[in-house]
Amino acid sequence: MPYALRPSELAFLLSLDDRAEQQELYAAAYEVKLRHTGNLVSLRGLIEMGNVCAKNCFYCGIRSGNKKVERFQLSLDEIENMALTAYRNNYGSVVLQAGEIESEARTEFVEEALRRIMKLSDGKLGVTLSLGEQTKSVYRRWREAGARRYLLRIESSTEAFYKMLHPSSHSYRRRRRCLELLRELDYQVGSGVMVGLPGQTVGQLVHDIRFFRSADLDMIGMGPYLPHPDTPLGRDIAFTPEYRAKQLASGLKMIAVTRLYLHDVNIASTTALQALAPGGREAGLLAGANVIMPNITDAGHRKNYNLYVNKPDADNDLLIENITAAGERINWGESGDSAHYFSRRLPR
Ligand code: 5AD
Ligand code: SF4
Repeated sequence: MPYALRPSELAFLLSLDDRAEQQELYAAAYEVKLRHTGNLVSLRGLIEMGNVCAKNCFYCGIRSGNKKVERFQLSLDEIENMALTAYRNNYGSVVLQAGEIESEARTEFVEEALRRIMKLSDGKLGVTLSLGEQTKSVYRRWREAGARRYLLRIESSTEAFYKMLHPSSHSYRRRRRCLELLRELDYQVGSGVMVGLPGQTVGQLVHDIRFFRSADLDMIGMGPYLPHPDTPLGRDIAFTPEYRAKQLASGLKMIAVTRLYLHDVNIASTTALQALAPGGREAGLLAGANVIMPNITDAGHRKNYNLYVNKPDADNDLLIENITAAGERINWGESGDSAHYFSRRLPR
């Protein structure tokens, strides 16, 4: 058994607030990443399919209770075109993300989108779904239509805290159950949390990292929490430069400590990092992440998909230049599967 950090050590690393010590932590995590995934960055073209959502999470800008949002839904043709662009640009995989809707119409729509993407790429484009909680039969239908991976963040693995972040109609147990169902259906399963939420403790983050291991996740997507003024949680938080710097450091530390603890999983460097500082996502790569999800949704729709404010404009050419300048290589044309997914399926 390789040495695994103890809870007190995880807490110590997450609490580092000296800049130089934080840099040492990022460098150590980067070394571990190099050993397991090399200096390769896998791209997933992110397609934001629609911002209609039945849920009302207290932190999220597109919660159903936010009447200021103009709602949109892409057509199948638009989704197909974006996926085709991703395929032609050699992205290797795409993510279909949208607010959570459970209905037969939604299930069929996604099935059709998946069939079209499989057809245009001869089954080569990897597809990840991020469409919230669904029943096992829905997850199965989407798996059969070609989806290989699924992202469903636990947001916080501490049940009591999860309950503070969501209305009472949302269920922590169902969220956990959905992660199990996805695993049973042989998806590569991704989850993650927001970091730096009001009231969140280091102990809870340690619990989250240990949850990632006990749930045997293949992919981790985490990002700093960003206050949105039209939400109950974000309304009174001042988005000062000090606050931003703190959120950025918290997000990077969480990536680094997760890499030190889990080694072979895919870890995404998310847009929320970029919303805090130019170069935020590149910093995530140097702190141990190995996946980037450039937004490939057309600009006209993108402005309505504001989970948080200050969402950066997509300049994917610049992003790719910067990734290369940081000493990383793009995993062009590969779907960039999680190494952990394959190792966990080997007989033990
Ligand atoms: N700040 C940061 N991340 C957020 N998300 C939703 N709202 C916010 C916010 N205000 C994240 C959640 C969700 C993912 C799609 O976006 O973790 O799972
Ligand atoms: Fe809907 Fe997801 Fe936002 Fe919650 S976080 S309101 S489920 S889009």
